Amino acid sequence: MNELFDLHHRKALVTGSSRGLGAATAVMLASHGVDVVVTFRNDEQGARAVADQVRSFGRDALVVQVDLGEEASVDTLMDQVEDSWGALDIVVANAAATTFRPLYKAERRHLERTYAISVYGFHQLVTRALPMMLNAGRGRIVAVSGADTGTWIPGHGLLAGAKAAMESMVRYLGCELGSKNITTVGISPGWIDGDSIQQMLGPLHEFAMDLERETHPMRLAATPEQVAQAVVMLCTDAAALVNGNTIVADGAGVFAFCGRYSKVASQLAAAKIESLIGVDAPALPE
Ligand SMILES: NC(=O)c1ccc[n+]([C@@H]2O[C@H](COP(=O)([O-])OP(=O)(O)OC[C@H]3O[C@@H](n4cnc5c(N)ncnc54)[C@H](OP(=O)(O)O)[C@@H]3O)[C@@H](O)[C@H]2O)c1
Repeated sequence: MNELFDLHHRKALVTGSSRGLGAATAVMLASHGVDVVVTFRNDEQGARAVADQVRSFGRDALVVQVDLGEEASVDTLMDQVEDSWGALDIVVANAAATTFRPLYKAERRHLERTYAISVYGFHQLVTRALPMMLNAGRGRIVAVSGADTGTWIPGHGLLAGAKAAMESMVRYLGCELGSKNITTVGISPGWIDGDSIQQMLGPLHEFAMDLERETHPMRLAATPEQVAQAVVMLCTDAAALVNGNTIVADGAGVFAFCGRYSKVASQLAAAKIESLIGVDAPALPE
């Protein structure tokens, strides 16, 4: 294998890897020869199951509980990584949590908690990982952002602000650390058809994912594994020049939104016309 694409024997920390995109990323990194720190907040069982999958590839796994919103908890995590491995090549800052509500109804404590996890927690992860990356002579930081920084998603104002700050830090870290062979990249997925979306949408989940598959330019609802492929690709040395940027990995799903919306709206309008006048509405252009 071309060594630019070879991740064997690297060591990665993936936050929020008890489920969803973090879990898929941890397993996919392991399948490429990477040892992984699997972290969880509440779901220890989920994290242990992911660690078992990591080990099934012959790789080492550490399982650590962390609350990224608590400074002492992040310190405990990083102390444990230092004591156990003393080295870290890759940090995937994936975990996030927020309260979904209109921004104008949010209270200061909601902002503080969301920002504590995605802004302060992210910064602390990076600063604590830095000595280990400097020792290794290389490092890759991947920050998981979201479409809400560039487009309105109802109820996402708190998270969007925190992720926008994260994207800004990605740009600065890219400039500050590039000369030390430590590069930073953000990744912005679209919908990910995983547990969190299922919980958020409840009974609407199947309907929403069918709509996604019907209207997405690639006719799909992206799985955690599909997004994890892009994360793992960004972890390779081959992607080093993608530094100080947040790249969109959504199959053009968000860019296409206006056209997708128009298509669904015109189909609804056609159905309405049919029901009103009782004849077939003219066929819609593809
Ligand atoms: N889902 C989407 O459609 C979508 C779209 C665009 C971007 N994203 C971004 O992609 C990332 C992963 O999303 P996901 O849907 O896969 O996530 P998810 O299923 O909600 O999982 C979140 C993970 O973060 C952990 N976590 C939650 N609060 C934490 C805290 N305070 N400290 C440390 N860890 C904490 C959870 O741990 P426990 O389960 O153990 O408590 C879990 O492992 C997030 O950054 C999200 O904003 C998601």
